[in-house]
Amino acid sequence: MIISISDIRKVKKSELSAWFEQMSDERKQAVSQMKVEHKRNLRIAADALCRKTIADFCGVEQNKIIFEHTKTGKPFVKDLPVHFNVSHSGDMVVCAVSDCEIGIDIEKIRNINPRAAEKFATDSEKDYISKNINGFFEIWTLKEAYFKCIGTGLGADIRDVSFDICEKKILCSENGFECSFIEPDADYICSVCKRIKNAP
Ligand SMILES: CC(C)(COP(=O)(O)OP(=O)(O)OC[C@H]1O[C@@H](n2cnc3c(N)ncnc32)[C@H](O)[C@@H]1OP(=O)(O)O)[C@@H](O)C(=O)NCCC(=O)NCCS
Repeated sequence: MIISISDIRKVKKSELSAWFEQMSDERKQAVSQMKVEHKRNLRIAADALCRKTIADFCGVEQNKIIFEHTKTGKPFVKDLPVHFNVSHSGDMVVCAVSDCEIGIDIEKIRNINPRAAEKFATDSEKDYISKNINGFFEIWTLKEAYFKCIGTGLGADIRDVSFDICEKKILCSENGFECSFIEPDADYICSVCKRIKNAP
């Protein structure tokens, strides 16, 4: 597995222009329609980061990478035996590449209404959130990473999966998944979830 991170505050305009050119026509069109420049830049940086990380992982030229999407929106690479996923929040973009199905989610730590946990957390997760300063975003990103790994998209029932975090060890209620936190920056929480090959 490779995880790569990009902070778009450090990206030059000339790089963004070059990266825009290497995107597919479909993505160029979708990105061009976004009104907020920051959101456009995140999408362009995400495309470039994925291209580079996948090319490094597979040992192929970046121009050989063609992105496609499942019906539920999960991106995959045409004709290459590799899995990847991408996430962006604030100024950061993260990409995970693996030979197993994978999901990644990053969130910038921000003030949230504590009641928001009611919508997605189980009772034991709510207990964890109440006792841990970044608990809300830890549980939230784990769930997003899990659903992005299985690729179901927004149709999923968020409470179908739950997490038990004990001394940095993460237990997923579903068998066959390995989940972890990565620390791209002190202001962000990021989770990765991988489906273990040949799990019982
Ligand atoms: C669509 C969804 C994946 C977007 O997540 P987000 O946190 O708003 O945005 P992120 O930056 O983390 O991820 C965006 C990327 O996810 C990818 N993505 C889109 N649909 C996906 C899917 N079904 N599965 C996996 N990845 C997907 C795309 O590459 C997208 O990148 P792009 O915008 O540059 O094209 C998310 O809303 C979703 O469906 N979550 C699943 C379950 C759910 O309801 N979770 C609620 C919180 S627990």
